Amino acid sequence: MKICIVPGSFDPFTLGHLDVVKRAADLFDKVYVAIMINSQKKGMFDFAQRKRIAELSCAGLENVEVITADGLLVDLCRGLGASAVVKGVRDAQDCTYEINMARMNGFIDGSFETVLLPAKPELSFLSSTFVRELMKYEKPLDGALHPDAVAYISVI
Ligand code: PNS
Repeated sequence: MKICIVPGSFDPFTLGHLDVVKRAADLFDKVYVAIMINSQKKGMFDFAQRKRIAELSCAGLENVEVITADGLLVDLCRGLGASAVVKGVRDAQDCTYEINMARMNGFIDGSFETVLLPAKPELSFLSSTFVRELMKYEKPLDGALHPDAVAYISVI
């Protein structure tokens, strides 16, 4: 069974993330969406809220499971038996960042691959940072997040 992890801070999980997860779910037998800590970023939603938003967004994707994890991604890969990490990339800046991350992870443990999926053009402007900015100015989140995630956020 081919297992992959789609890791991220997912603060919050956007429709851009969902597209990457759906494509990973077509390529792998099992996909773990892993909500993890990016030590460079200060969070807005707590882990339980991020998990709920990702779960609502991924509902109905049968081979997808949302988990939270601390520690290193390489250790999570080993623990779950994943052969690949899948990340979406929107532009050259993302590519540079993700290639460097892949090399660092490979330095620690070279037993899995990193697969980079280019974002669809129509979703490439979307980011969690953009969504947090919309929220700050109380603008609608429709088209940026899954409708069930928008509904959930409106009541927390
Ligand atoms: O969505 P992001 O913020 O780009 O995701 C980054 C994330 C959370 C995948 C990355 O920071 C990560 O893998 N964190 C776990 C700790 C780790 O393994 N760091 C890399 C080794 S230097």
